[in-house]
Amino acid sequence: MPKIKVLPHEELCPEGAEFESVAGKSVCENLLDNSIDIEHACELSCACTTCHVIFREGFETLNGSTDDEEDLLDKAWGLEPNSRLSCQTLVDDKDLTIEIPKYTINMVSEIHPKKDKDTGPMQNTISNNDFSFSKSAINHITKLLEKDKSTGVRITVKTSGCSGYAYDLSIVKEGKKDDYSGNFSDINLFISKESFIFLKGTELDYVQNGLNSELIFNNPNISAQCGCGESFSIDQELFQKA
Ligand code: FES
Repeated sequence: MPKIKVLPHEELCPEGAEFESVAGKSVCENLLDNSIDIEHACELSCACTTCHVIFREGFETLNGSTDDEEDLLDKAWGLEPNSRLSCQTLVDDKDLTIEIPKYTINMVSEIHPKKDKDTGPMQNTISNNDFSFSKSAINHITKLLEKDKSTGVRITVKTSGCSGYAYDLSIVKEGKKDDYSGNFSDINLFISKESFIFLKGTELDYVQNGLNSELIFNNPNISAQCGCGESFSIDQELFQKA
């Protein structure tokens, strides 16, 4: 039976691991079957990148990747030439050695403040250092909330577009479980737990350009933005500093 050797990963297998794998199953399934709890947010359907692994041995023996996998891989954290999505990579009859990158796009679970034994639940409060609104953004959003009879906005960052990520802002009456939250001039702000790290230090502005006006995220964590302004990529140092 072919073997899979997994190099040490701080959280998933601190000592590393080695196990006999099942040919014909994906690397991701083999990892999960052997209690290595790699993220697989899209349930192995090639839609999320969280199952990204780097092959240190055996890369050349793997099945080829599809265009969908290649497109997604571009968005993975810590991409290397021998990177693959483990849910799309089938075990053959050869031994493999893999490294699981430290972070995924859902890396916030590692970066957020940990639960403190003495203070109880995790602190999910958004401070002025985490996020701020310009005066014009406050005025604009306040009008939107009045019109909608709502009290808050919820912001998420999603994988999207040609540069990797995109913002999604919606008017809400309340946030979701695990959201970060804060109150800014009577606007209740909710940021999804997964998106918080991407937005840290951002100012939301509302700008008027001639006849057009729009909400603009002045986000210090962005490394590039696509020409159409719809999507952006994130400076990976953000995660390394965390
Ligand atoms: S689990 Fe989502 S791409 Fe593999």
